[in-house]
Amino acid sequence: EILILDFGSQYTQLIARRLREEGIYSEIVPYFDGLKAAKEKKPKGIIFSGGPASVYEKDAYRVDKEIYELGLPILGICYGMQLITVDFGGEVVRADHHEYGKAELFIDEPHKLFDDVSNPTIVWMSHGDRVEKLAPGFKRIAHTSNAPYAAIVNEEKEIYAIQFHPEVTHSVEGQKILRNFARNVCGVTSKWDMAHFAKEQIKKIREQVGDNKVICALSGGVDSSVTAALLHEAIGDKLVPIFVDTGLLRKNEREQVEHAFKNVLHVPLITVDAREKFLSKLKGVVDPEEKRKIIGHTFIEVFDEEAKKHKDAKFLAQGTLYPDVIESVSVKGPSKTIKSHHNVGGLPDWMQFELIEPLRELFKDEVRKLGIELGLPSELVYRHPFPGPGLAIRIMGEVNEEDLNILREADAILIQELKAWGLYNDVWQAFAVLLNVRSVGVMGDNRTYDNTVAIRCVSSTDGMTATFSHLPHEFLERVSTRIINEVDGINRVVYDISSKPPATIEWE
Ligand code: XMP
Repeated sequence: EILILDFGSQYTQLIARRLREEGIYSEIVPYFDGLKAAKEKKPKGIIFSGGPASVYEKDAYRVDKEIYELGLPILGICYGMQLITVDFGGEVVRADHHEYGKAELFIDEPHKLFDDVSNPTIVWMSHGDRVEKLAPGFKRIAHTSNAPYAAIVNEEKEIYAIQFHPEVTHSVEGQKILRNFARNVCGVTSKWDMAHFAKEQIKKIREQVGDNKVICALSGGVDSSVTAALLHEAIGDKLVPIFVDTGLLRKNEREQVEHAFKNVLHVPLITVDAREKFLSKLKGVVDPEEKRKIIGHTFIEVFDEEAKKHKDAKFLAQGTLYPDVIESVSVKGPSKTIKSHHNVGGLPDWMQFELIEPLRELFKDEVRKLGIELGLPSELVYRHPFPGPGLAIRIMGEVNEEDLNILREADAILIQELKAWGLYNDVWQAFAVLLNVRSVGVMGDNRTYDNTVAIRCVSSTDGMTATFSHLPHEFLERVSTRIINEVDGINRVVYDISSKPPATIEWE
């Protein structure tokens, strides 16, 4: 319904996301395909995203001007605003200083773009260029103290442009502005939701796959589980779902995944028991990076061996999410790389599969909604993220069976208590770390000399930054008492009070 032209902003996906939250369907295309897509897809309106470039640079990203003649409403955001201004004969200059941060937006007169929006309202600015002179036919409808032209319109052509970023949550009522554009200006009336998303993806997957088989590696985590469930909906027994038990999983994790797939979704999961292989390769290894590498390689080895048994498989499905896609959807350009992640599901090029990544437009919370839609149990869907290398990076030093069992028990108690206190969904991740530090304690009349466990609970929205969770002391006390009493081999529990940065979430 709404076509989004991507000019390379790192926020482009957020525009789509905000529209999805309002039940409005949108598609993103690179700016150079804009005209063609607008003709083919017949949207009700078009949004130009922001972008890192300057419109007056020689090779600035441009769009075929014919797009303005299609009679479709357009909303330009930031770079999009500057481009529209230049295209219609206005003037854009470099601002004296880069404007970055919150600003008060004053609405000059009531307007359907600002229905239900307070006046003034807080918006987020991030730009180095600004509109100096309006193009003929345009008038101002809102301003800030720094930006005289914060929102402008050409009423006759229904072309709108705004300097701020409505798609970021710092723009308090930005989502309403995007909704108003879609509903009030473009006349979008339909309601779109995750059920539609599932339907569309299923259709796409069927078209792409045809009669071929698709392999999918399950880790027990949310993303790969949802991917497998979606593929099974789409292609039934042409899906080969492979679950590798590395022996580095949490307590009952394998049973939970097996149960969900075999009994709830009726997907014939292939479990490969590689516990011994992983443990023997990790024997004597203490360096964190080496541990990670060994686990990565071993995973590929085990997975490859199993995949070879399914010679007719041509595709590999992965649960890549939007935050993993890092680079802006399609525009090769200076949108900034944030962080690349080693993922055990990531396979080397020599494995000759074509990739299917049906979740690559979604954020974690949307994937969870999709999982529920597909019938996955909520305990699985609302699980905390879990790293590919598993418990191995939560045991300092060498990994062995005995320590894994101790850690599993301590971790399970923490999670149980979080759920009992209604705190589980308030934290992004919570887990126990076995420190391999021994200390003296006293149990009854006896001296003990046992292991220490650290409890790590963090609040975060994306795992990129995090603060340690401020949990009630009574809760921590309960967790500590239970772990020390119930888990043999532990006589001390400490709480990790570091944030990221400078610490990381995991200890290795
Ligand atoms: P750090 O420790 O870097 O972790 O602050 C950030 C987030 O990423 C998870 N993590 C991983 N996930 N493979 C993964 O799939 C990995 O190798 C890996 N290492 C860390 C971590 O649990 C946290 O959510």
